[in-house]
Amino acid sequence: MLIDVIAGARPNFMKIAPILRALDARGSRLRYRLVHTGQHYDARMSGDFFEQLGIPAPHVNLEVGSGTAAEQTACIMTSYEALLLKNPSSLCLVVGDVTSTMACAITAQKLHIPVAHVEGGLRSGDWSMPEEINRLVTDAVSNWFFTTSELANQNLRLSGVGDERIFFVGNTMIDTLLANVGRLRAPRFWDEACLREGSYFVLTLHRPANVDGSGALARMLDAVAEGSRGLPVVFPVHPRTKKTCVELSNLPKNLILVDPQPYLEFNWLVKHAKGVITDSGGITEETTVMGVPCLTLRDSTERPETVTIGTNELVGTDPAKLKPALDRLFAGDWNKGGIPEKWDGHTGERIVAELERLLAA
Ligand code: UD1
Repeated sequence: MLIDVIAGARPNFMKIAPILRALDARGSRLRYRLVHTGQHYDARMSGDFFEQLGIPAPHVNLEVGSGTAAEQTACIMTSYEALLLKNPSSLCLVVGDVTSTMACAITAQKLHIPVAHVEGGLRSGDWSMPEEINRLVTDAVSNWFFTTSELANQNLRLSGVGDERIFFVGNTMIDTLLANVGRLRAPRFWDEACLREGSYFVLTLHRPANVDGSGALARMLDAVAEGSRGLPVVFPVHPRTKKTCVELSNLPKNLILVDPQPYLEFNWLVKHAKGVITDSGGITEETTVMGVPCLTLRDSTERPETVTIGTNELVGTDPAKLKPALDRLFAGDWNKGGIPEKWDGHTGERIVAELERLLAA
């Protein structure tokens, strides 16, 4: 039986790696076809992750590239539909909440191919974020849900999904982290920039609301510089953010702008940082597991357990809120955090075991 495993953008790659590994290791009777939509295509955003995480080359690359949300969605749907019409599969497995996730889920379901959503049930309640729309739509057309938390299960139940379709399996992104934590390595610029463990921050920004306008981005960067008390702030600049960054003059002196980092180098930087300042969702899970303080520049999160159990705090999008939060961090007043249930490195195996059972039925 052939299942499609869909990956399109950077945060998908660490989520599929353990599922593919489990499919290979179990000698599963399920065969897979790895479909890369091409939403992310630069080596820094895609190829590096395949190489470092040992993900096999995609069987199919739809090569859709960049565009508006509607253009990307339309292009992925027409290309994936053509593939399915020519060579159908028995299941479409999608992960996360990017445009590729939603587009492939809709396409498969319309062709009566069942859909399984890994990381189903997450909700931030913030419809201004494209990912929230992707989550709602993907979950609305998915048959089965592999979830990371009891809260996600509850969200699905509230939207009418029966328990027989929900599988609380844990977190595949954390499988990847735990499998690679011993391989993390310092980036080339570590010595040159005189970085020392516990004496620098990591900053990531790529949400359209934070980075698509130069004024908002400049105010946030100034607030980061002011609150970080002169410590170096390593800032791997996402391509979306770079477009706005080039319009800015006089960037704060303690910011170290670098290219998007490969997986092993990025998580090295996170593991040894004094704290991480970010508007990402996935990174808040990784900082929780590594016990690194995380300040999230958003007003809501779809991953509340990173706040209630982990090391994450929602600082919000008002730059003025950042300094008081950093002051508390410097004073040692930060939650030490714990690890959410089933974030134990074995989620990929649980997913494959369930898939074998579901597809045998
Ligand atoms: C996408 C995801 C977001 C995820 C992020 C991680 C959606 C709606 N958003 O956002 O959830 O957190 O990826 O990176 O799917 N670009 C390149 N090279 C690439 C890919 C993109 O230069 O390999 C540039 C293009 O100019 C593109 C822009 O980055 O227009 C944004 O890329 P896009 O895939 O539209 O969204 P992200 O902001 O990356």
